[in-house]
Amino acid sequence: MNSTTLNLVQKRPVSSLAPNPDFDPALKQEGVTCAGCHLREGRILGPRGSPNAPHPVEKFSDANALCMRCHVVQGERWDTFYRLPPCGTIAEIEVGQGRLKGRSGEYLVRSPAAAGCVQCHMPALERPLVEGGSARLVRRHTWRGGHDPQMVRSALTASFSDSIASGGGRIAALVLENTGAAHFLPTGTPDRHLTVRLRALDAGGRVLRETTDTLERTILWRPFIVDLWDTRLAWGERRRYTLDVPARAATIEAQVRYHLLAESRRKRIGYEPTAPISYVVFDQRRDIGLGTAGGSQSGPGGPKR
Ligand code: HEC
Ligand code: HEC
Ligand code: HEC
Repeated sequence: MNSTTLNLVQKRPVSSLAPNPDFDPALKQEGVTCAGCHLREGRILGPRGSPNAPHPVEKFSDANALCMRCHVVQGERWDTFYRLPPCGTIAEIEVGQGRLKGRSGEYLVRSPAAAGCVQCHMPALERPLVEGGSARLVRRHTWRGGHDPQMVRSALTASFSDSIASGGGRIAALVLENTGAAHFLPTGTPDRHLTVRLRALDAGGRVLRETTDTLERTILWRPFIVDLWDTRLAWGERRRYTLDVPARAATIEAQVRYHLLAESRRKRIGYEPTAPISYVVFDQRRDIGLGTAGGSQSGPGGPKR
């Protein structure tokens, strides 16, 4: 990469850069670098295409086109049997909007601008690009995703309630909706998944009944790539999970957890991350009293851990 471009970053006031406690020199060698997005055929690509640049530049027509280079999985291979390619975030956006029909990875990007990746993953802010420069509209280079609990929570709207069924029994219901991610929730590598746990407890805190569901894509990788099932939430999709609550229950509880990786697979590949590989994105308890519907809420939803 051209050293002039690197200087743009290095000359920013050092005081504004906080040390990164997660910095890992080994990972740095694997990461997506500036050049991956900003360098093509000897030119620096950017949103402005400044005529004053001391190196060849090119203005890109839409920033989202940069994401398409890597986050589209293409290829009409004979040995694949799926509607959405694995890690096919862009195809998921098309499916959610009802535009993608047909089978397999024969996917073509119709309109990069419509994908909105940059708008959600690189929030805009005003700041000078160089020390002493005037403030201008730029975008954060953070790409928050599955490693960021706040980002994942922002994708999800959840509501937890209980009611009396026509037969007289009580039902606890958790409704989940993907209101914040234009692609599926979760997206990216099929390792990512969410678990949904509903429980009924007695007055002493003992678990009387429990159900667990997953929002997950399951793929058969060999000898062919075949979609087995996909229970993730498309954009705007809403799903209801229920639990028949035993008569003795005093409390009902709903918890949704995001997993970067299944614990069994983490062990198999010997991956030892410093941060937890799963975390809670929604947690709510309701005290249902005995014999009355409606119940009262104990504490707000959201993170507990
Ligand atoms: C994953 C892709 C990606 C990577 C990696 C990346 N950028 Fe960017 N960068 C973008 C996009 C997209 C924009 C344009 C955002 C917009 O529409 O304004 C941008 C804009 C910029 C701009 C113009 C100001 C602004 O923020 O809009 C500068 C300067 C810049 N990048 C420098 C860098 C440097 C230096 C690195 C490496 C440390 C880097 N970028 C890494 C995607 C990337
Ligand atoms: C040069 C290839 C490349 C380009 C271009 C690229 N990405 Fe990525 N992106 C990756 C790879 C590889 C990963 C996975 C890194 C990992 O998990 O080790 C990733 C991960 C991510 C993540 C997940 C971060 C997390 O928490 O795990 C987000 C969000 C993301 N990219 C958004 C974007 C957006 C938005 C753009 C366009 C501005 C973009 N990417 C362009 C290769 C790319
Ligand atoms: C309306 C907002 C929105 C748009 C548009 C959007 N994303 Fe996301 N994205 C999210 C949210 C919220 C999450 C966290 C929840 C999840 O994983 O689905 C996320 C997660 C991701 C991840 C994380 C997967 C991981 O491994 O952790 C990747 C990669 C990603 N997005 C890429 C993209 C790309 C590429 C585009 C454009 C084609 C895009 N996103 C468009 C909101 C958005």
